Amino acid sequence: MHFTQSIVGLVSLLISQSVAAPSDLRSRDLTSFIAAERAIALQGALDNIGPNGSAVPGAGAGFVVASPSKVNPDYFYTWSRDSALTLKMLIDEFIFGNTALLPYIWDYVHAQAKLQTVSNPSGTFLPQGLGLGEPKFQVDGTRFNGAWGRPQRDGPALRAIALMSFSNWLINNDQKSTAKTIIWPIIANDLSYVGQYWNQTGFDLWEETLGSSFFTIQNQHRSLVEGAQLADALGVTCTGCDQAPEVLCFLQSFWNGEFIVSNINVNNGRTGLDGNSILGSIAIFDINAYCDSPTIQPCNSKALANFKVLIDTFRTTYSINSGIPEGQGVAVGRYAEDTYQGGNPWYLITTAAAEFLYDAVAQWKARHNLIVDETSLAFFKDLYPAVTVRQYNSGNANSPFAQIMNAVTAYADSFAALAEKYIPADGHLAEQFNRDTGVPLSANDLTWSYAAFVTMSQRRAGQYPASWGSRDAAAPPGTCAGTSTQGVYAPATAAGAPNVTATCQIEVVFNVNATTYYGENIYVIGNTDDLGAWNIDNSLPLGAGGYTAERPLWSATAYLNAGESVNYVYVRQENCNQPYIYETVNRTLTVPACGSAGITTNDAWTGPLGTSGNC
Ligand code: NOJ
Ligand code: NOJ
Repeated sequence: MHFTQSIVGLVSLLISQSVAAPSDLRSRDLTSFIAAERAIALQGALDNIGPNGSAVPGAGAGFVVASPSKVNPDYFYTWSRDSALTLKMLIDEFIFGNTALLPYIWDYVHAQAKLQTVSNPSGTFLPQGLGLGEPKFQVDGTRFNGAWGRPQRDGPALRAIALMSFSNWLINNDQKSTAKTIIWPIIANDLSYVGQYWNQTGFDLWEETLGSSFFTIQNQHRSLVEGAQLADALGVTCTGCDQAPEVLCFLQSFWNGEFIVSNINVNNGRTGLDGNSILGSIAIFDINAYCDSPTIQPCNSKALANFKVLIDTFRTTYSINSGIPEGQGVAVGRYAEDTYQGGNPWYLITTAAAEFLYDAVAQWKARHNLIVDETSLAFFKDLYPAVTVRQYNSGNANSPFAQIMNAVTAYADSFAALAEKYIPADGHLAEQFNRDTGVPLSANDLTWSYAAFVTMSQRRAGQYPASWGSRDAAAPPGTCAGTSTQGVYAPATAAGAPNVTATCQIEVVFNVNATTYYGENIYVIGNTDDLGAWNIDNSLPLGAGGYTAERPLWSATAYLNAGESVNYVYVRQENCNQPYIYETVNRTLTVPACGSAGITTNDAWTGPLGTSGNC
């Protein structure tokens, strides 16, 4: 019996080997899955872009909607970050040969030129570019007045990076003057913003933490280096690009000796281990980069050490990862302490982990060597136990170098396969999947999830964007300084921006005494855009930070155009979706003339009170 069984076992082993070695079989399956899902993901992203995206009726031309989801969560807005990352993907797809995408790129160019000039709660475009830090807008490109984590300073850098990829394509295809006259003015505004404000804190990419974010700083640095080179090629000046070495200097301070602390200048009680760091490194991936570049590329020892420590935290955070050994891909989320929508793994970060590893392998192969040092040793030990601290030069298929490349590629594939396991049969990608069951949840059809799947697929297929010139980035100075360059801002009229001029704005503090029950909120609404133009969705929320038993104060600060007269009222928002309650009075105020001091209203609620819906 025993003998027969082992013969049967041997024969079936031989048969399966003669068809394909088990690892080939697995990778062939993964390859065909990825090819099919890549097509679904590309279409899924396009379906979320106005004006013709089938999932987002009402979105304006060139506006990328984060998700068609309108409730829990309401993602029916356009975010600068999600949009720019999506367009970077589309522009690369276009450059790799999908010429049908060109109209989407031009729509984005025109939409962003206009959007840059839209005044919003982060500020106005002129004279100081402050409005460029606004994270999100309505899907028709009008301002969003709700309370939000603002400003977010990654948006201008990411938009510039996307538009610079397109500009370089234009230059290489005999359309330099188009790049110079139409696209560069948009880029120049964004780079001005980066050069002026990089050293000021802002909200991180997860919109929660006010501080300094690795992802933001890394993209800001890339944008300035790439900007200086593009400006040279176009024969124009980049205001702000001179800040690049200082930004690179600051970037070094996120490393704590063991891993990348993704948010610094903040005390939020977290370890700092965050998918932020993986997304940062893949966003600045440069196939030509040296692995010891201070830009912290995927093949950099610090990035690899960080990758291991970060990924290992998720092994124990999510029960769907339990039992998966070190060195094999797991489901990855934002950060271990996350509770948003249940604090689950995200598709886009899980595929980003795969992309990161494909990037690193591509860089080692392009350099024909790999240097393992004390910092990166633990990362490699999980994958290739015989590894030691030394340089591995490329060799034949059995060389240690080749074996390590195969091991890291298999590790990358295991993240992609993990994603495959939790992607539903129809291929739709939500934002998250349940940490215990793997079921998709939170926003459905998240554009960024789709974009991230496509970029991962590009790297796995050996498609790499052109170098952004990281080799020519100036080294950071010996001592860092928090410097700034005054930006130069002008509407990109050749791309369709309205010819706005600087508006003089005056601070108006809306103070109203309004007794409310717990769960009830107060907004101010009025006849100007800053006050929502009588559209309740755009009204300005007041805060109850100063509310006491003695004084039921609700308050908001707005910046209104000097000299204008404003009609406004306060509105109560009830706790269970009961109708809004408007004041029964018409209020007016006149904003003081330019140069005057700000004013504060001293109002008292006039109208019916609300009642809790007890829901
Ligand atoms: C909405 C943001 O988009 C999300 O990133 C954040 O986690 C939640 N607000 C909670 O603050
Ligand atoms: C929440 C995420 O935290 C943020 O990064 C993203 O921009 C928005 N959702 C929209 O997708």
